[in-house]
Amino acid sequence: MKAGRASKTAEAAAAIRANHHLNANDPVFSDPYAFEMTNSQWRLLLNNALLRKALNSNLMNQTFGKLTGQVVGRSRYTEDLLKQAIEHDHIQQYVLVGAGLDSFVLRLAQQYPQLKIFEIDHPDTQRTKLEKLKKLSNTGELPSNVEFVGIDFEKEKLSDALARSGFQNTQAAFFSWLGTTHYLTPQATLATLHNIASFTGKNSQVVMDYSIDYKALEGIERLGSFAVSQFTRFLKEPLIGSFASQTLHHAVEMMGYQVVEDLSGKDITHRYFNHRADHIRHTHATHLIHLKIG
Ligand SMILES: C[S@@+](CC[C@H](N)C(=O)[O-])C[C@H]1O[C@@H](n2cnc3c(N)ncnc32)[C@H](O)[C@@H]1O
Repeated sequence: MKAGRASKTAEAAAAIRANHHLNANDPVFSDPYAFEMTNSQWRLLLNNALLRKALNSNLMNQTFGKLTGQVVGRSRYTEDLLKQAIEHDHIQQYVLVGAGLDSFVLRLAQQYPQLKIFEIDHPDTQRTKLEKLKKLSNTGELPSNVEFVGIDFEKEKLSDALARSGFQNTQAAFFSWLGTTHYLTPQATLATLHNIASFTGKNSQVVMDYSIDYKALEGIERLGSFAVSQFTRFLKEPLIGSFASQTLHHAVEMMGYQVVEDLSGKDITHRYFNHRADHIRHTHATHLIHLKIG
């Protein structure tokens, strides 16, 4: 990340959610605030009729659409599991690790008034986000069940950041960690998972996405993964972290997690993108994993 400004990949992810919400028939994930959450350059591009048409053409959906699938698929999966965790497991704490420009607090905080929401992110991203959230909320105020906690993962542990908030580590929590492990070394990702397992309550859950080694990909998937890596390098947030699924499972099981589910790109496509007329599919380059603490 460039010091002093919001994460560019967080802005790109919001722009992808905005495009999907505005232009897809039957969106897999709808974020009506994403357009306002992204930056002015992305808004300019999304407002250009010609570009919008090209961006949502069949050809683009079969290529660029895999990145859209990744971004909207991970949010949809997480919020499906969160709903289940709230309604069936009575979880009342939601921690968005590396929340970026996700608009959960505007879309759903009031629907779950008993849910305590903790947004954890770099202060530079949070500063921009807070300004936008205040502008976009009906009252100019943020919901009272949300706390924003700044962190620099390179300097601080998640447990230390959460200790500055009202987070209750004796109670179960649901953690989402989306679109971030790709930018961290595998050791840093494992250290954070280990940290979560060490301080959080029994029955806590974690949902995160992770990259698999691009050498395991073939054809258009390999090419697409290379293109995304060049794009994020250009944004000064290079992709540096990937895992072999079995190695990751073994490591997290040693920390006390149960792997509830690990969905490959094909599995996610099967669950959420099957038979879509617009050809948007999930990439094979990333997986979604659901972990529970025993
Ligand atoms: C690609 S964005 C993902 C945002 C969001 N979860 C989503 O799915 O759209 C990556 C996030 O990681 C955060 N991040 C990157 N490096 C960080 C660091 N060293 N400390 C804290 N947060 C960091 C950025 O601020 C950004 O919000």
